[in-house]
This record gives sequence, C-alpha cells and structure tokens, in this order.
Amino acid sequence: MRTVFVLNGPNLARLGSREPDVYGTATLDDLREACAATAAELKLAVDFRQTDDESQLIAWVHEAADRRMPIVLNPAAFTHYSYALRDALAMRTAPLVEVHISNPAAREEFRHTSVVAGVADGTIAGFGFGSYLLALRAIAGLLADDG
Ligand code: DQA
Repeated sequence: MRTVFVLNGPNLARLGSREPDVYGTATLDDLREACAATAAELKLAVDFRQTDDESQLIAWVHEAADRRMPIVLNPAAFTHYSYALRDALAMRTAPLVEVHISNPAAREEFRHTSVVAGVADGTIAGFGFGSYLLALRAIAGLLADDG
C-alpha cells in the first residue's frame, strides 16, 4: 500500500481554538482521523505530521523525495514567503497537492501569493478539512495515472 505524507505547517496544531470563524472548531486530531478514513477508502496509508519549524518541514520534504512519497501539503504561512520550502518541493519525485482550509484568495492581500503553487500538481483551497480529502483523491488519481 502506498503511503502519502500529509504535512502541516505552523499554527495548525492550534486548530480548534485558532480563529474558529476562519478555521472552524475541529482539531488537528479530527483532521488526522478524517484523512486516515479517506485514505483507507482509497487504499492509501497516511503519515500525518505537523510542525511550526521551517527546517523540520523541509527535512520531511527531502525525506518524501528520497522515498518517492506523494505529499498533501498545507504550508500555512510558509505558503506566502518560504522560497526555501519551494526549492525543497521542486526536488519532489512524486505527486504534490497544496491545500488550504480557508480560501487565501478571498482573504488579506499577502495571502494571495503562493510561492509553492508553481511546483505543485495543483492547489485545493477553501473547503475546510474537505480540501485535504479532495487532495487525497487527487493524489490517488495521479498515482493511478502513473500506473
Ligand atoms: C492556511 C492559509 C494561510 O494563509 C495561513 O497562514 C494558515 C492556514 C489555510 O489552511 O487556510 O496558516 O494555509
């Protein structure tokens, strides 16, 4: 069974209490469970991780490249300015889908730029936790296309 990394950037461990009007009241553990359930349906395994640390996130992206692992990535605020993360993702060896819980395009102007989007297969944003579940389906489709 193929394993997909679901990687989460800074402040996402605070889901549930973080700006609930924007991100909802469900927690990161709820998100982990929802991802595991959808992955099981798709016959995929999930390795779900969160960090507030840019260098840790980059180390996980390198690990994914070395292990040819697909990634569903919510880079959180790193989305908007981390060229280091983008450069790491450019070395990817398997599908990559960028996700956001909110719709950054409908929020403050600084959120309208993603430095990551250009190296991803695609971006899914604005569907709450559903963005992740759609991304897992997209990854399953990309893996099937690759044979
Ligand atoms: C986010 C959107 C980003 O702009 C923000 O910095 C986050 C969360 C989202 O999932 O909606 O931390 O990536």
